[in-house]
Amino acid sequence: MLGFTPALRMTGLLDTVVPAGHCEHVPAVVRETLSNAARHAHATAVEVTVETDSRRLRLRVADDGTGIDSAVTRRSGLDNLRRRAADLDGSLTVTPNEPAGTVVGWTVPLPAQ
Ligand SMILES: Nc1ncnc2c1ncn2[C@@H]1O[C@H](COP(=O)(O)OP(=O)(O)OP(=O)(O)O)[C@@H](O)[C@H]1O
Ligand SMILES: [Mg+2]
Repeated sequence: MLGFTPALRMTGLLDTVVPAGHCEHVPAVVRETLSNAARHAHATAVEVTVETDSRRLRLRVADDGTGIDSAVTRRSGLDNLRRRAADLDGSLTVTPNEPAGTVVGWTVPLPAQ
């Protein structure tokens, strides 16, 4: 659907410190944000970052597309991602990318080791 391969960067002890209940959200976040980048942003490049410092898990999906129109109030997939973050005491952020496009950040705390 994208028409190109997104860049993927993975940092930290993802295999060992991220519990299964947190892991299961990762494909959902990536699927929704990539779908938005293709269908709405008409992006030509997307960078996906999955990282942990062992205290929190963070996904960052940055596209170089049109940006989200601030007049848009309907939220569906993004609301679902916000709920998935809130269920784990985390948060979703949607901010403009530089010089163009959108950055979606999905961050949740990890249980103490
Ligand atoms: N990466 C993006 N770039 C530009 N616009 C975006 C991006 N992501 C979302 N949007 C805008 O925000 C709106 C809400 O996105 P959201 O994912 O919540 O719903 P949707 O994609 O329209 O519906 P669904 O996710 O149920 O298929 C979109 O309709 C689109 O206008
Ligand atoms: Mg969507």
